[in-house]
Amino acid sequence: MQDFNFYTPTQVVFGKKGEDKVGELVKALNCKKVLVHFGGNSAKKSGLLDRVFDSLTQSGIDYVSLGGVVPNPRLSKVYEGIDLCKKENVDFILAIGGGSVIDSAKAIGYGMANDCDVWDFYMKKAIPTGCLPIGTILTLSAAGSEMSNSSVITNEEGWLKRGCNSDYCRPKFAIMNPELTYTLPPYQTASGSTDILMHTMERYFTQGGTMELTDGISEALMRTVINNSKILMKDPTNYEARAEVMWAGSLSHNGLTGCGSIGDWACHQLEHELGGMFDVAHGAGLAAVWGSWARYVYKANVARFAQFAVNVLGVPNDFSDQEKTALAGIEAMEAYYKSIDMPISIKELGVELNDDQIKELAYKCSFQNTRTVGGVKALNTEDMIEIYKMAR
Ligand code: NZQ
Ligand code: ZN
Repeated sequence: MQDFNFYTPTQVVFGKKGEDKVGELVKALNCKKVLVHFGGNSAKKSGLLDRVFDSLTQSGIDYVSLGGVVPNPRLSKVYEGIDLCKKENVDFILAIGGGSVIDSAKAIGYGMANDCDVWDFYMKKAIPTGCLPIGTILTLSAAGSEMSNSSVITNEEGWLKRGCNSDYCRPKFAIMNPELTYTLPPYQTASGSTDILMHTMERYFTQGGTMELTDGISEALMRTVINNSKILMKDPTNYEARAEVMWAGSLSHNGLTGCGSIGDWACHQLEHELGGMFDVAHGAGLAAVWGSWARYVYKANVARFAQFAVNVLGVPNDFSDQEKTALAGIEAMEAYYKSIDMPISIKELGVELNDDQIKELAYKCSFQNTRTVGGVKALNTEDMIEIYKMAR
């Protein structure tokens, strides 16, 4: 088992009507003026936004609001938020939505607590030294940003999608009411479930030593998401299934399933370039590249892929041929993606890649040929080109 540091300071308020407690939660943190940050229309349409305003007002908390965050959240909206927070003396940011809104809130929080251009943190030119406190009301189980240390922002100049990780941005609280996810279109439910699975798979596929307990937690989490996402495709208002997937989303990315593992993260890096250039849904982009990545790297750790096949997907173990078991597992995972209408190629995302675009994606993903990605097998620019070609 590798050494690790596990830090999850977020208070989780899980269950029905959790959003009605938001005023009390902000008050308990002694904050006075809130930026209520949200996306397009979903939170307005469901009446959630009005309920949140009521709860804040009842607790005597002043607020301003800023909507319009789009999937793959933009840097220009972050700057707009920082200007508004400065003008209004905001001391707390409440994100209502999925990963995009939460990540935008975190970036605004960095902008409020640091003097430099916030984009410098995403380009690794500077390291944040603080963040305004963030609270979240989750409406989409997917990114895990409600407990994670991560924020991912897209700069419209050059369409670069980049992440910044630091514990300063971990939310103070996460309100998780599974009922708030009933209105999700099936595509977002499926894409979110894929992202949740991938956050554990990225940690599970590793070259590290043994990690029996973490493996057990991870395998149970992955089976739970697979089972319940299938239920949600037929029965989107099934509370128990929504609740299982929602809690899995947070545990999958708060660090728990990475305790003792170095992790891989190549698929996330490959996908972020697709998201930046073609604005695809993050989870769907991950499903589109995963099978090609897996076939490209599995020989570097056949035993791990065979364990995944047997313990997560129920593939019969061929003890005489581990490679056969490993490959059957990759096929079974792709069959699962298909069963929830997720793509298993980039073409199915509606993106037809030519060779020049593939080179550009790989060049960006390798930070202009200056880094490799991946833990199972370190991938350089040429490897990335091969995987994008296999996946297109
Ligand atoms: O804008 P609205 O109208 O709210 O619609 C949103 C959006 O169009 C809709 N939606 C959200 N809740 C809804 C709903 N529609 C109906 N009913 C509801 N209850 O869903 C659409 C997608 O929302 P978005 O926030 O973009 O999705 P997701 O949560 O998947 O977040 C994706 C972003 O998170 C980043 C991704 O790269 C991507 O930019 N990630 C963030 C991570 C982190 N901070 O830890 C880790 C992840 O790996 C990921 O990279
Ligand atoms: Zn992700």
